[in-house]
Amino acid sequence: MIQVDISNIWGELSLRDLLAIEKEVFDAHAALTDGTGAGADFRGWLNLPLREPTQEITRVQNVAEKIRSDSDVCVVIGIGGSYLGPRAAIELLQGPNRNMGKGRGDPQIFFAGNGLSTRHYNELLGLLEGKDFSLIVISKSGTTTEPAIAFRGLRWLLERKYGTDEANRRIYAITDPVSGALRQMAQQQGWESFVIPPSTGGRFSVLTPVGLLPMAVAGIDILAVLNGAVDGKEAYDLRSFENPAWLYAAVRNLMYRSGKAIEVFASFEPGFKMFGGWWQQLFGESEGKDGKGIFPVPAELTADLHSLGQLIQQGQRNLFETMLRFDPPEKQMTILGDVQNLDGLNYLEGKTMDFVDEMAFQGTVEAHVDGGVPVITMDCGQLDDRKVGELFYFLELSCALSAYVLGVNPFNQPGVEFYKRNMFQLLGKPEIS
Ligand code: PA5
Repeated sequence: MIQVDISNIWGELSLRDLLAIEKEVFDAHAALTDGTGAGADFRGWLNLPLREPTQEITRVQNVAEKIRSDSDVCVVIGIGGSYLGPRAAIELLQGPNRNMGKGRGDPQIFFAGNGLSTRHYNELLGLLEGKDFSLIVISKSGTTTEPAIAFRGLRWLLERKYGTDEANRRIYAITDPVSGALRQMAQQQGWESFVIPPSTGGRFSVLTPVGLLPMAVAGIDILAVLNGAVDGKEAYDLRSFENPAWLYAAVRNLMYRSGKAIEVFASFEPGFKMFGGWWQQLFGESEGKDGKGIFPVPAELTADLHSLGQLIQQGQRNLFETMLRFDPPEKQMTILGDVQNLDGLNYLEGKTMDFVDEMAFQGTVEAHVDGGVPVITMDCGQLDDRKVGELFYFLELSCALSAYVLGVNPFNQPGVEFYKRNMFQLLGKPEIS
């Protein structure tokens, strides 16, 4: 179980505050499980964790094996909830440089359609030159502009390279079971396709084929991920503050009520950056509405202590921090002695880098708490495929509870339409009747 430690926030809130909000968290959890809260039709993610593979999961595994065996590169096209989850899992487990030296058998995985940058697209075309590749195109609505543009270009490239029939065997679509342009195209062209359940919104879809297919292509054991999520589902059903999801949801709301409107979500792992991005979308899009919401800021430590550290330490006191820790890896790096000792590091001779990391963590928590930044710590244990599934479920549940306590619908995102409306008007998009 993930341990949430709130011992470093007692200066900011009292036990009485915590007890006072308990009933609200209880009601939020009941509303979520009973389906009496806002957006109740979008709670399908609660039932995604699985112990045994379904036919669909086996098909995901088989398709992943095919892509691994016939492609040097797999391009995953999608944006928002159709992009961040798989990238978060892959980079957290395999590191931000996982593509280096990869190819047929364990393909490189690139992401496209998550923006409109021509430079990014051109770079990708360069990376695909002379490579065998496949496309996974993900869009729940099947109509999102950014992935649709990237897909149109990459599909043309694929068809030019392989001809239409083989190209169609190298395109995999993940979309709504019935509606949307992508479903229609998949049916027409005979692409192998997977379903995003209508009851599961984009940012809660990482445990559907949206996250699982790219993860499986990366060689991640998706059954272990799903099993980890089941463990989470069972463990975090507790209806008390012994449930760390309750504690996290409650403390976030108490912090917000006391004027802390920004949450820094930090870890000491560089591979965590994209996971932080996934968390940012999950909480930002779920809570930021009706004039409310905590602004979510992911951070990578210690790197960001040399960029955000000054502001966190001494800037406006309107933030709190959540720090994640994982157990140390098995393979350790020991700091060597040096006869000259010009860098003055000999006092660390024989110590591991992990020991220094731990001291940096403790020192940072102490400094930030002294500086008036309450710090929640999450001890996540061993980082592996299973843990990632548990972490996804834990944060999704915490987010839904937190949003209900905040008094908003966690499952809609009406604000996202505004930029699209303006963009379509400027582009002269014809109305579809
Ligand atoms: O969480 C969400 O619902 C959004 O971030 C969507 O995932 C994002 O807008 C992409 O939408 P679609 O999957 O329909 O292309």
